[in-house]
Amino acid sequence: MNKLIVIVAIIGFCTAANIKCTEKQKQSKICTMEYMPVCGVKIDPENQYSQTFATYGNKCGACSEGVEFYAEGECESYNKKAIFCHPDDHLNVACTREFSPVCGLFDSSINCFAAPCGQNYSNKCTACINKEVTHFVKGSCEDLRV
Ligand SMILES: *[C@@H]1O[C@H](CO)[C@@H](O)[C@H](O)[C@H]1NC(C)=O
Repeated sequence: MNKLIVIVAIIGFCTAANIKCTEKQKQSKICTMEYMPVCGVKIDPENQYSQTFATYGNKCGACSEGVEFYAEGECESYNKKAIFCHPDDHLNVACTREFSPVCGLFDSSINCFAAPCGQNYSNKCTACINKEVTHFVKGSCEDLRV
């Protein structure tokens, strides 16, 4: 009998870049019911890495409810310990050398053939400054390899 060769590319955690809600979106009063789920991230104005997030039916629904930015798909499709990179983080020009390692996780622009789809970075700034990193988990990527 022929052997069935199955090639599996694990892209589970890979999605597109995070997007900021515009002022116009934040003020919209009517949203459609279209189901195009996003993971809406609310941030503590004092510390953008102090986040609460929830799944919304679509980006309009998220932005009209006080969300700062959103990631594609349901929150449940991300690691439970994920912290999302703020879309503005890519604009940083420098990072401190503080060593506080994180595993930066890539969006769908990077094709991964193994989980986790990410790379070690010395801190959250050096992770999120890369535009293909959408979120990170504290610690090293090896810790995510179960
Ligand atoms: C990531 O960091 C861990 C812990 O410091 C280390 O063991 C591992 O080799 C690093 N992985 C890569 C690919 O550099």
